[in-house]
Amino acid sequence: MTKSKLTRRQAITAVSAGALGSFVNWSFPSFNINNSDQQKLAINGGEKVHRGSWPEWPVWDQSAEKNITGMLRSGRWWRADGEHIADFEKRYAELMGVKRCLATASGTTSLIIAQKALGVDAGDEVLVSPFTFIASYNVIFMNKALPVFVDTDPETFLMDPSKIESRITERTTAIIPVHIYGLPVDMDRVNEVAAKHNLKVIEDACQGWLGEYKGKKLGSLGYAGCFSFQNSKNLPAGEGGAIISNNEELMDKCTSLHNCGRPFGSVARTSAYPIAGINFRMQQIQALILMSQMNRIRKDADIRLANALYLDASLKDIPGIIPAKLVVENCRSAYHLYAFRYISREFNDVPKSRFMNALQAEGIPCSGGYGPQNRDGLIDEQLNSKGYKRLFSEARLKQWREENVLPGNDKLCDEAVVFTQNILLGSRSDMEDIVRAVRKIYQNRDSLKT
Ligand SMILES: Cc1ncc(COP(=O)(O)O)c(C=O)c1O
Repeated sequence: MTKSKLTRRQAITAVSAGALGSFVNWSFPSFNINNSDQQKLAINGGEKVHRGSWPEWPVWDQSAEKNITGMLRSGRWWRADGEHIADFEKRYAELMGVKRCLATASGTTSLIIAQKALGVDAGDEVLVSPFTFIASYNVIFMNKALPVFVDTDPETFLMDPSKIESRITERTTAIIPVHIYGLPVDMDRVNEVAAKHNLKVIEDACQGWLGEYKGKKLGSLGYAGCFSFQNSKNLPAGEGGAIISNNEELMDKCTSLHNCGRPFGSVARTSAYPIAGINFRMQQIQALILMSQMNRIRKDADIRLANALYLDASLKDIPGIIPAKLVVENCRSAYHLYAFRYISREFNDVPKSRFMNALQAEGIPCSGGYGPQNRDGLIDEQLNSKGYKRLFSEARLKQWREENVLPGNDKLCDEAVVFTQNILLGSRSDMEDIVRAVRKIYQNRDSLKT
């Protein structure tokens, strides 16, 4: 099946009729050169392609104001005093198609709690994606376990399931696949290896709201899924997070752990604080903002999808531009960012940084994705610490360093270019400007040489 057929079909099944209305005229232009492409690049003093602005983010929803004012005036600001957080949890669980949701202070705290509840302990090892935000692996350090990075498939930007098994040791207890940029990890393959080795899977879906894998929402495919509602996210509330799962006992434990260890459900009241917990609670105001933001989340997701499919179909025809590949046909990215690879060889060896500067000068904001996080300085600091030297043998830490070589991830870090999600909320003509700008740079690549 050709890629454009796949994306059209995917669009037609995935995009709701409402959002599709504005995109019914599907035209996926193929790569051809016109005169405007050959104009002088903006970085060299020419006129820029995109002169307008881009949609701002976040977008305030006034419908939240009455409830927020009422709650503020009542003084019922914390979780135990009001119903808003429980309302949000119910609505988010419904949206995700799971039995339970626990709202938390952040995505980071969700990941810490989910690991604790699943038994990740000091001296354990946890497998994790390296192409990610720092929180995906510093939460492993927070639980005094060892993050072991599994190499990335540069084509998908995601944990390569074929590389998981070789990183498992007798101390491995969990896997944290990250649906980075909202792109769905191949969860069947991850779950298969996990089941074989009796490992717990915690999805880092902190960028994955409404993304889908084989008809199920991201975050609902492992033991537990963790989300972030930090301000840049597709569902924003300044700060905030959630854990979702169908496992009642696990969710009881998460609830207790995030609330100072107070009893909850199957965590019985043997004392006032029967398990060792912490305060990672959400505040009422966050839940009210989130519920108002949920008014727009489906429509926004459909607009991002339609624009991303247009970019996929258009950019792929430009030599040296390779949009992120989906792991299976039947899945849908949440598009927290739109991602593609830039192959400098095709641009006569113009470095990625110079390409991005040229694109920015054309009025298209972009950045270069994540660096090689597996070589982050904080990791060495942790491994050299007194505590880690007590927890892990010298031989194990030496082996960790020798094996921490990830060619797929290094390649991706060199090649990745991304647009933030608000760019994908632009109009069709904004998307055409993106394609026009990249084509213009390709046509004029020789003028970028320094
Ligand atoms: C992949 C990923 N994991 C974890 C987090 C942590 O979420 P928070 O910032 O809400 O703590 C983020 C947030 O940026 C993220 O993008």
